[in-house]
Amino acid sequence: MIEISTSILNMIKGKESETIFGLEKAKTDYFHIDVMDGKFVKNDTYNNMLNLSSYIKRISNLPMDVHLMVEDVKKGINDFSSIEPNIITFHLEACKNENEVMECINLIKQNNSKVGISVKPNTPIESVYKYLPFVHMCLVMTVEPGKGGQTLLSEMLDKIKELKKFIDENKLEIDIEADGGINLKTCDDVKNAGANVLVSGTAILMAKDYKEIIDELKK
Ligand code: DX5
Ligand code: ZN
Repeated sequence: MIEISTSILNMIKGKESETIFGLEKAKTDYFHIDVMDGKFVKNDTYNNMLNLSSYIKRISNLPMDVHLMVEDVKKGINDFSSIEPNIITFHLEACKNENEVMECINLIKQNNSKVGISVKPNTPIESVYKYLPFVHMCLVMTVEPGKGGQTLLSEMLDKIKELKKFIDENKLEIDIEADGGINLKTCDDVKNAGANVLVSGTAILMAKDYKEIIDELKK
């Protein structure tokens, strides 16, 4: 089954409640919260996302999928656990060593969220393999993290395929999430490669009819 996680990064200011309500009605499976600290990536959405996700928590029951693009992962986990997200994903590249990766995984679990681990386009997928038995999801970035509205890097399709093969061969039960540049043109390739959770921001938020595009992306 394919699930859709709508990135609210580029939601129009002043239209928050109608957008959130519209997305809920259109049956998005998650709200994807893109947390940027101005260090791990250039943009800084930290406080804005903290406010927005707290607001979503008050007005919606839909699960939130927090994507931490931050250097200080533990602070991110502690701050965003307050919104009780379904899942918190952090970047492998933000951790100094194996010990720190395991500490972050355990901290997320202690805070009662599921755990996702993510890799940037230039990070080989093999580097996450040893952590997969301990996490619920692996997020493959299909663009360079940092902003919405970019074009999907087609080389990432092979990376997703490789990951899918490893997961199946090792009988792991892990979701594969793909994030960046996913729209009606690219979604079939991403799904065929093996991703089952698709993040989409621009394509959904710019569409006239949220339900129509979400149904189409899920097919
Ligand atoms: C990129 C973020 C995204 C991304 C999705 O750093 O992680 O989640 O902006 O937005 P679109 O669908 O516009 O690529
Ligand atoms: Zn994201």
